[in-house]
Amino acid sequence: MRKNIVAGNWKMNKDLLETKELLLGLKDKLSSFSNVEIIVAPTFTNLYMATEELKQSEIQVAAQNMHQTKSGAYTGEISAGMLKSIGVETVILGHSERRAHFGETDELLASKVNTALQNDMTVIFCFGEELQDRKENAHFAVVENQLKKGLFHIDEVNWKNVILAYEPVWAIGTGETASPEQAQEMHAFIRKTIAQAFGGTIADEVSILYGGSVKPGNAQEIFAKSDVDGGLIGGASLDAESFAAIANAI
Ligand code: PGA
Repeated sequence: MRKNIVAGNWKMNKDLLETKELLLGLKDKLSSFSNVEIIVAPTFTNLYMATEELKQSEIQVAAQNMHQTKSGAYTGEISAGMLKSIGVETVILGHSERRAHFGETDELLASKVNTALQNDMTVIFCFGEELQDRKENAHFAVVENQLKKGLFHIDEVNWKNVILAYEPVWAIGTGETASPEQAQEMHAFIRKTIAQAFGGTIADEVSILYGGSVKPGNAQEIFAKSDVDGGLIGGASLDAESFAAIANAI
């Protein structure tokens, strides 16, 4: 059975002490959970402290990005091996902010996906349409294209290390959420697209998270949809109480 997952993407927020405080708050509020996997993604400088702090906890740690090559002259970049050496086994790839502000293309993401999987890491692969795409009724085509170009080259065996995060760009950080029906419609389409390419079992097993202005007040109705297996949470994951409330909404 596929897993329910609630992941917090802390983006470029929280310094060392603030991160520690948030982690302590989460450990306190999420001391026992059984039906949901919890992942947090602090910024690079706080990852090591987070893996140490969460050693006795079931909360997992993810990086927000990584470079596609092993090592070398790439000033400012971080490799999969470096992440693994500090106990980080999961990485978010393809977030719309990386695509929009840092020029990450589908081709680049395909290569980052390969590197992560070759290093036995789990990938949280993000994708989603912009508002204009939806207005032009191109949202299904855009999503299908992002999936096919960035992810569908992987081998069947690697799907067990993939988590999908559908994040319509118009809903990220805007306070505007896709309706539960819009989320379900797209998630069902994503699952169907995977089934066509890789078969029903893989499509059934992969967790598809929704992201975009999920809050304690709307999480439950979104997560209740049959093809929504949890959420990737930005703003509302920066506060222990609200993130725990979202996790409990599963
Ligand atoms: P948001 O961000 O919850 O603040 O909309 C979601 C995300 O960017 O993953």
